[in-house]
Amino acid sequence: MTFIAQDEINKIRSQSSIVEVISSYIPLTQRGKNYFGVCPFHEDHSPSMSVSDEKQIYKCFSCGATGNVFTFIENYLNVGFSEAVGIVANKLGISLNISLPQKKEVKFKEEYDLMRFVTKLYENNLQTEKGASALAYLKKRNLLEDTVLDFSIGLSFDRNMLYEVLIKKGYQEKYLEELGLIYKKNHDVYDVFRNRIMFPIHNLEGEVVGFTARCYLSDETPKYLNSKETYLFKKGCILFNYHRAKDAIRLQKEVILVEGNMDVIRLYSVGIKNGIALMGTSLTKEHIEALKKLRCKIILMLDNDNAGETATYSIGNIFEENQMDFRIVRLSGEKDPDAYVIQNGKEAIMTAIKNAISFVEFKLNYFKKNKNLKEASGLAEYVKAVIESLKNTPDEILKEVTLQKLSAEYNISYAILREQLGEEKQKVQKEVKIEKKEQKQSSYEKTCSKILYYMMHSKDFVKMYQTKLGIFPTKEHRLIANEILYYIEKHKNISIADFITYAETTNLKQEIMDIINNEQELEMTEDGMMELLIRIKKKIKKEEIEKLKQEIKKEQDINKKVALLEKIAEIKKGSVENESD
Ligand code: CTP
Ligand code: MN
Repeated sequence: MTFIAQDEINKIRSQSSIVEVISSYIPLTQRGKNYFGVCPFHEDHSPSMSVSDEKQIYKCFSCGATGNVFTFIENYLNVGFSEAVGIVANKLGISLNISLPQKKEVKFKEEYDLMRFVTKLYENNLQTEKGASALAYLKKRNLLEDTVLDFSIGLSFDRNMLYEVLIKKGYQEKYLEELGLIYKKNHDVYDVFRNRIMFPIHNLEGEVVGFTARCYLSDETPKYLNSKETYLFKKGCILFNYHRAKDAIRLQKEVILVEGNMDVIRLYSVGIKNGIALMGTSLTKEHIEALKKLRCKIILMLDNDNAGETATYSIGNIFEENQMDFRIVRLSGEKDPDAYVIQNGKEAIMTAIKNAISFVEFKLNYFKKNKNLKEASGLAEYVKAVIESLKNTPDEILKEVTLQKLSAEYNISYAILREQLGEEKQKVQKEVKIEKKEQKQSSYEKTCSKILYYMMHSKDFVKMYQTKLGIFPTKEHRLIANEILYYIEKHKNISIADFITYAETTNLKQEIMDIINNEQELEMTEDGMMELLIRIKKKIKKEEIEKLKQEIKKEQDINKKVALLEKIAEIKKGSVENESD
């Protein structure tokens, strides 16, 4: 953001019409002052998204999505901020004469250039005479030329060929070591990757940050050698093929999550382009975030072995905790999706994906493992496990069907099963209720939110805040107010739509969006604002008086007591004046 003049961006924003832009993607109908449409950011069929022509913002009353024209484009098209600005400018027929570099590109530009060069070098190796047996290996694995090119697959040679080339180009040893390309041992320098088929790994933005390298000459271990963790390559943040798959995912509203890069490559080679891979690692917070950003259904299709099954269970639980929309495919016969496609073809795996099952259904099978259902205790354990897991499903119909199925299959009274689940259900509901109560805003907080909402609309309201209140007594509101004041100071003016662009760059983004989303359409007048400010002022005074009263109680010295009483009187007088303002 720091690289783009915010005023330039604001100019593009103010020339665009959010109603026009959004309605070019989803149908909107006008109702009163606002426009309404089905929110594309969550599963929905009713028009819960409102678009305000006047304010140039959108809000979804159901999922809480909020923003201006740029945030809409960013989230709807899954693009970065600069690209979103470009798209809007393009729609207006404005050619951008500002350059919009991405922060990260600038930060590691040299490293990315180097990694790209290394990728090319490996690709080139593969096409040389010395690459013949590697090419033959790839061919034997049914990888066609196109696929090799699409994934920039290459080959590393023995000893330190890469080292020598890069040193000649002027790179420092230490730098190459830090990037995980070479290592030193007893004064000798070696390439990290030797005699392996090289698969470049890209970060989520599409820059090469590391490699995964497979042995092909013999059954060496490890089968895959990966780049070590470096400041570029953080395995926990990477999903193989994420950058390439984004478009296909957007179109199909579905992403297929598999274990291995070869699975992704195989799917891609038969035209299934929305696959990404965990690369054998466990799921991290960063992965969840990246998956959530895709805003689509996830098909979890791991290997057909015990490890794959256990991982499906644990990842399923994480998905469930994060309320993600997902289904599961368990292939049978072949060891993984790669082998499955080779053996059964594209149509077969497409059918398997279409028939993906729910997590509950998966667990119905999974819990049978290592239990003897013919024994009473084994069966009881199994049924309990299933009922326990049903607790987390919001889907009432699925619950009902599962209970019916259990009852019929094992000849257990449906009433008892229902009763077991029912008890649990009540408990859960109670907990939810308590939580909601705690989350409910106090009227003080509501008033503060309203004031801040007013302030985002015009500098006149900001001025009123400064002169009448000066400062919020609570830190969280003070911090947001400070952001608004800072914005006004820099841009001399404020509109809610422009402020959103700025807010996105602050670490109060979520808090600010919540305020915008929670406020209903207020009639905004100076009188209205004044009333809110007085409410807060009164509260502050009341608290001050209360504090002084406590002090009086504790005070022994009569003179000091009187002084405190006078102070109270003064505060009271002030508040009377204020009310008649
Ligand atoms: N993996 C790894 N190190 C290993 C083995 C596996 O990093 N020694 C990662 C790789 O990213 C691999 C994934 O775990 O893609 C899944 O492992 P596996 O199923 O064994 O690999 P496949 O994709 O089946 O590999 P291939 O078909 O080439 O044997
Ligand atoms: Mn595999």
